[in-house]
Amino acid sequence: MRTLVITQDENRIDEQEIARAGKIILNGGLVAFPTETVYGLGGDGLNPDSARKIYEAKGRPSDNPLIVHIYRMEDLEILVKEIPESARKLAEAFWPGPLTMILPKDDLVPDETTGGLDTVAVRMPSHKVALAFIKAAGGFVAAPSANLSGKPSPTLAKYVLEDMDGRIDMIIDGGDIAIGLESTIVDLTGDVPMILRPGYITLDMLKDVLGEVTMDPTLLDDDCKERPKAPGMRYRHYAPKGDMLIIEGEPDKVVKEINMLVEESRQKGYKTGVIATAENADKYRADVVKVVGNRNDDTAIAASLYRILREFDDEEADAIYSESFATDGFGHAIMNRLLKAAGHKYIKIQEEV
Ligand code: TXA
Ligand code: MG
Repeated sequence: MRTLVITQDENRIDEQEIARAGKIILNGGLVAFPTETVYGLGGDGLNPDSARKIYEAKGRPSDNPLIVHIYRMEDLEILVKEIPESARKLAEAFWPGPLTMILPKDDLVPDETTGGLDTVAVRMPSHKVALAFIKAAGGFVAAPSANLSGKPSPTLAKYVLEDMDGRIDMIIDGGDIAIGLESTIVDLTGDVPMILRPGYITLDMLKDVLGEVTMDPTLLDDDCKERPKAPGMRYRHYAPKGDMLIIEGEPDKVVKEINMLVEESRQKGYKTGVIATAENADKYRADVVKVVGNRNDDTAIAASLYRILREFDDEEADAIYSESFATDGFGHAIMNRLLKAAGHKYIKIQEEV
């Protein structure tokens, strides 16, 4: 299969090209498209064969359900049994935007799309190219992130091409992505809304709208023995090829510790890398030092994290050391992804007393 790449500007959408992309979906094909979070790998959300093709293209287990993307509120009714008040309030506050809601699915949604679950994940993205594309594609685009299973989600079209060339019909290059981490997932099927995956829409933002909101316990406790409720959160994810370790502590001590570890790895003949905040970057002696952003700028850190993980693969770094970042607000999502990338390998430098 030849993969066609087209370019679309959010401020100057070419209706003809978007119609062409939409037609591919309606004919059962696959098109990758930009959203404000990460690039998505789209197929017809109401066509079981499209879901099968998505799993195949990604090399993803078919019990890991897909998110159905819509472009207008009235289409939510078609996908779900009923719309609870909580969903209306969240849609009002955060759609279009980086929030995915889990609701009881209508029979119209194929089991293939939801990995056999009787619930469906729905999101209305805010990226204008995404909205135009979903509309042209018939209104229901099932899409996981457009990476091969086990790779970081793509934040640039060139990474989609790297993973999906020859596997899908088209890639819509919409330039840079704004957020860089996948949407917040909130499950509305229980008594109390529960976050299954942290993202740009934080716990506090959801509480402001709904009152009580909980977190999947596995997101708060690294040693939690329960299984995450979102099937996708159970898989190994976002992992660079090199071995990765996160070091937390007071900034100067972290620099010292990382430089020591770098030296040890060097002596073993390893190529070394560091994920650094801008404040510390100059102080590291690794082969490759990547600046993720200023320490207090979580939006910058989120926007560059996946790109940096992929760049370390290109550099063929064997041992990667990362600073640790704040865990409050959006920071929770950043640390959640960073810990997954590191396979939860983490050390904390104790304060001296
Ligand atoms: O920002 C995003 O959400 C991006 C863009 C493309 O919209 N999409 C994305 O999709 O991250 P994906 O497939 O990589 O992640 C979807 C997550 C998986 O962890 C999956 O298990 C979970 O959502 N999920 C989907 N349907 C579910 C359901 N019915 N119940 C629980 N979890 C569900
Ligand atoms: Mg994904």
